[in-house]
This record gives sequence, structure tokens and C-alpha cells, in this order.
Amino acid sequence: MKVLVVGGGGREHALAWKISRSPRVDEIYCAPGNGGTLEVATNVHIGADDIQALADFAQGEGIDLTVVGPEVPLVRGIGDEFARRGLRLFGPGGAAAAIEGEKSLAKTLMAKYGIPTADFAFFTEAEPALRYLRQRGTPIVIKADGLAAGKGVVVAQDTPTAERTILDFLKGGVLGQAGKKIVLEEYLQGQEASAMAVTDGQTVLPLAPARDYKRIGDGDTGPNTGGMGAYSPLPDYPSELAERVEREILRPTVRAMAAEGRPFHGVLYAGLMLTREGPKVLEFNARLGDPEAQVLLPRLANDLVEVMEATLEGRLADIRLQWREEAAVGVVLASGGYPGLFQRGVPVVTEGDREAGVHLFQAGTTFEDGQLVTSGGRVMTVTALGEGLPQARTKAYQAVEKVRFEGRTFRRDIARGEG
Ligand code: AMP
Ligand code: GLY
Repeated sequence: MKVLVVGGGGREHALAWKISRSPRVDEIYCAPGNGGTLEVATNVHIGADDIQALADFAQGEGIDLTVVGPEVPLVRGIGDEFARRGLRLFGPGGAAAAIEGEKSLAKTLMAKYGIPTADFAFFTEAEPALRYLRQRGTPIVIKADGLAAGKGVVVAQDTPTAERTILDFLKGGVLGQAGKKIVLEEYLQGQEASAMAVTDGQTVLPLAPARDYKRIGDGDTGPNTGGMGAYSPLPDYPSELAERVEREILRPTVRAMAAEGRPFHGVLYAGLMLTREGPKVLEFNARLGDPEAQVLLPRLANDLVEVMEATLEGRLADIRLQWREEAAVGVVLASGGYPGLFQRGVPVVTEGDREAGVHLFQAGTTFEDGQLVTSGGRVMTVTALGEGLPQARTKAYQAVEKVRFEGRTFRRDIARGEG
């Protein structure tokens, strides 16, 4: 069969690589892909948000299965357009992807169905928001309702920051339409975890837990990024906790979405805070995490295409997900200056042989005159599998040293102190 992967980041390279291991697959296309997806796929010059062009391509090329990585096309209804044309696509339709695209919808759903989350209220006017802030005090979390490419969440430690953010979002329009409605949320303390599940709308199969690192600097300092590393499994996420998350969060959410007329199929992602009172939802996403996918897909023993086809055919109850015993650690290499201004077109050189169990999942790379060069802020995720987290971590950092480009920036503390 022919598969189209939509997107061009490290997650999509990992998806294309994993899909390429399926004996059912003959050809893979990636739109737009990157310098790394070329190893396993044909890149197509169509942007990940260009829904009509993607559907035209899938139709013209006779694509049997389209897999969508990023959230924007999902929220904009790529699933609905493909369904309208009778094309098979793995990922939720627009009404279900709204669980990621509209934070107020996700919060309302959780409140209505008793799914544990931080206390909240939402506002479209500044005055009532500022009044709520005075009542609640700080720290407080301010979230733009709509998609804001990782810039829509501010954890305000003091009142001036909170006031400024509320005014910037609601009155200043700094996030455009996405910030015209905001959620003010109770500040939660604890470790974070990414709990994902594949679901056909009925059966819910949790993936192994993972953890990502959002800040640019070691020790979680500096500005937020698209993600600087990840690892799986999590020593502080025993099977009893996994069962609790499945029982209290993942299954009730899938059921609630169906009850609300927003049937969800694809990957549901719950970003959790592991608080003293138990796991609580920080956010839902309608897709695999990036860079979590880059550590989860190498650990997955199943044929991913089989899992995706079972999802589309409502047969997930027949599938058991199986995970390799090995741990995985992924370190993101970013361009110098990221997440601020950075240079593109910097040559990327890899030295020596790649060890077994090491993957270079590329993101911001492309070929110029036959030379691999940088083309984005996050250049690649270097993932290593090892017998436990310490070994995987050592192997990942050894592999990092074999990838060189000017300005190369990475965190040195991914999975440090684990296991
Ligand atoms: P989100 O995009 O909603 O996951 O938020 C981005 C980051 O902000 C999260 O990964 C947390 O580190 C932090 N965050 C979000 N909501 C809260 C909260 N209620 N309490 C504390 N930190 C939060
Ligand atoms: N790693 C967080 C996300 O994909 O949203």
C-alpha cells in the first residue's frame, strides 16, 4: 500500500521510519517532509496545512492511508475533507480535534464529565478576568483559547505579570484570534507526564508513558520551545498510575467526546501534572507529541500500520500494544539562538558509524546542492535505545557528539538522574 505522512518535523520522520518497517507498505510520501524523511520516503512539496492540495494529491496518487502528524491541519478539518472524498486518514475530524484547538472546550468537557483538571474560569473581557485574578492571587496560569504554536501559556508567578498577560492577550491582541478568549487556571505542582492513547472511539489503548522537556535550558530554565528532549518509560509512572490514568482520564474523555457528538479516533494525548492528589490534565492534544513520538515509536514492537488500520476499521479491541523492554532517550539538537532568531543553511555533518539502536530523527534539515543543511530551529532528535534509562542516555549523548553543525544547542540533562 501507499502511505502519505503529513508534516515535516522529527515526529513525522519517526512516523515515516516506523511505517517503512511495515511489510504492508510499498511506498511512502511525506508532505512536506525534511532532509531525513528522504531516507524512507518521497518528499512532496505541499505544506502540511494545505488541506485541498493534500487531498488532491492523495486522490491523484491513489494513497491508501494518510497519517497526520501536526495539529493545525487536524483542527482545520483535514479529517473531514478526506472523509468527504472517501480517503482513509488516521487522525480525528475537526469537531474532535477541537479538544486541542479550543482550550475552553476541553476544560468545559472535563468539568462536565468529572475528569480531573486544574480549577479554571474563562473570559473574553479583561475586567472580569482581572477581578478573578485578584480573588485567586498568584501563581496563576493564563492560557489562550486557540492554537498559538506553544506561545499561548503563561505561568505567572506575580500579579504584574498576570495582569500584563491578560491585557496583552485580550486587549493587545498579541496572539490574534487565538488570544481573544482566555482560560485562567489554578497553578498545579508536580512532575509532568505525557499520557497518550490510540483509540477508535470505543477501545482505548494507552501508549507507554513519556516525558518531554519544554524549556530551552538545563534545569528547566529559559523560554519555552517546541520540545528539547524526551524519554520513556518513566520510573515515577508505575502500572497502578497507568491504570488510574486510563480509568479516570483517557477512557472517560473518549466516552465524553462521543457523547458530545465529537467522536474521537486517532491518538489522544493528555498532558498530565502528577500532583499529590493524583494525575490532573494540563492539556489535551489530538495527535502524537513531538518529541515524545521520537522515543515512543522506536519502543513500539507492533506494526504501526496494522494498528492504524485497525483504528480506522473499529477493530482496536483485537490489538494488543507491545513495547520493547529497552528504554529510549531523545535529545533535540537545535540551531544556535533558538527559540529566538537563528541562522538557516548551516551545513550538518555526521561522523562515524551510527550504532544499532540510534536514530537521527530529523526536523529542520534540507539538502542544498547535495549537502545536508539546517532549515529550522529544531534540527533533529537523536534517539537511543538502551537497557535502561542510564544506558540509553549515555548512548544518546555519545551519538550527539557525532552530529556537528555550527551553533548546535542542546540540553545536557535529558533523563538525568532517572533510573
Ligand atoms: P500546555 O500547553 O497547556 O501543556 O502548557 C504548557 C506548559 O505550561 C505545561 O507543560 C506546564 O509546564 C505549564 N502549565 C500549564 N498549565 C499549568 C498549570 N495549571 N499549573 C502549572 N503549570 C502549568
Ligand atoms: N511535546 C508536547 C506536544 O507535542 O505538544
